[in-house]
Amino acid sequence: MKKVEAIVRNDKLSFIKKALADSGFSGLTTYEVKGRGKQSGIIQILNGTKIFADLLPKTKIDVVIKDSNLDKVLELIIANARTGSIGDGKIFVSDVEQVIRVRDGAKATEDEEII
Ligand SMILES: Nc1ncnc2c1ncn2[C@@H]1O[C@H](COP(=O)(O)OP(=O)(O)OP(=O)(O)O)[C@@H](O)[C@H]1O
Ligand SMILES: [Mg+2]
Repeated sequence: MKKVEAIVRNDKLSFIKKALADSGFSGLTTYEVKGRGKQSGIIQILNGTKIFADLLPKTKIDVVIKDSNLDKVLELIIANARTGSIGDGKIFVSDVEQVIRVRDGAKATEDEEII
């Protein structure tokens, strides 16, 4: 199994959620986060005053999926997150060893159905 952690623009969350759900990926976790990438924040002009915004608000989405669905999920997220401008976000992919469903203790250690 894989965990996809996508950090995207806040206004892209609803499109990404819908695209994932429409393709059968309903389970996910979202967070409001602050972060920075290559540009280390940006300078914003507010009422003529320059303000250095170090950490910018973004949305983080975690999705745990079967290995075989990785390419599809990445494609859906990228297609719905991209504007083509800097700050579109980053995606991190890692291995997941085990998933346990609390309701009945069902465990998945490979590409099983509980996720
Ligand atoms: N190396 C990193 N480690 C952890 N989080 C990161 C890293 N790079 C980016 N992020 C997270 O991703 C968010 C979006 O980053 P951002 O889109 O600005 O990436 P970037 O690499 O600067 O690409 P771009 O040049 O398109 O802006 C950041 O706000 C931060 O939360
Ligand atoms: Mg950036």
